[in-house]
Amino acid sequence: MGQTVFAPAEPSLFGLPDQTGGAPVPVIELRGVTRIYSTGRLEVAALRGVDLDVWQGDFLAIVGPSGSGKSTMMNILGCLDRPTAGSYRLGGTPIEQLSDDDLAAVRGRAIGFVFQSFNLLPRTSALDNVATPLLYQGVSRKERYARAKAALERLGLGERLHHEPSELSGGQQQRVAIARALVTEPALILADEPTGNLDSQSGNDVIELLHELNAAGTTIVLITHDLDVAQAARRQVHVRDGLLLS
Ligand SMILES: Nc1ncnc2c1ncn2[C@@H]1O[C@H](COP(=O)(O)OP(=O)(O)O)[C@@H](O)[C@H]1O
Ligand SMILES: [Mg+2]
Repeated sequence: MGQTVFAPAEPSLFGLPDQTGGAPVPVIELRGVTRIYSTGRLEVAALRGVDLDVWQGDFLAIVGPSGSGKSTMMNILGCLDRPTAGSYRLGGTPIEQLSDDDLAAVRGRAIGFVFQSFNLLPRTSALDNVATPLLYQGVSRKERYARAKAALERLGLGERLHHEPSELSGGQQQRVAIARALVTEPALILADEPTGNLDSQSGNDVIELLHELNAAGTTIVLITHDLDVAQAARRQVHVRDGLLLS
């Protein structure tokens, strides 16, 4: 194993205003992040003061049992949700300063998501599923389809461009979802239990793909309850009852 050298985030990485004065900053910096869900009379503290730094080029697994707060963490890291307390800096910018529209733009431009249940559009071809994120970035139709096709070919699905999700195996559907996550060339990929619905061979293929993306420079955060899957990452942090134990 070679020495791992993690790079600081480039100021332009997320297209956010540089508030760092050019100093090296992590891609992700959580400080005291808390998330409390209030449902009627009940309050659930899903995260209870989480500190975490992730540098560019890292491949981190967040490991913990069901109910420990992993998906809550993924939603916050992916700017789909905001902390109840604490701070989250993404590429050096405090996200609490950004509007929901700004966050949606950052998400679309800089973060790729892979979910356990694939989350593909039904009755929609693989090609259209992968091309869709580019629509929101104003990419021309011709370029959208060229890039979607290239992404699917890269994942070995060149013969399945016009298949709909119901016509594909689970492993193939997850590869379509990975093609969709990488077609925008995101700085960060967040994968929540990406192998959870796959047989072991397809799961290994997905992990192998994440390694290839990481080798090409993409920062990856992999969330899983499975210790074997977590071992595939370069480093692991453990989450228990909303707290990180590293
Ligand atoms: N929307 C929600 N409303 C209320 N409680 C929630 C909500 N989402 C998650 N929780 C609770 O927060 C805790 C952490 O959940 P979650 O982040 O989904 O864990 P994991 O992904 O590790 O299984 C659990 O106790 C869960 O029941
Ligand atoms: Mg979960």
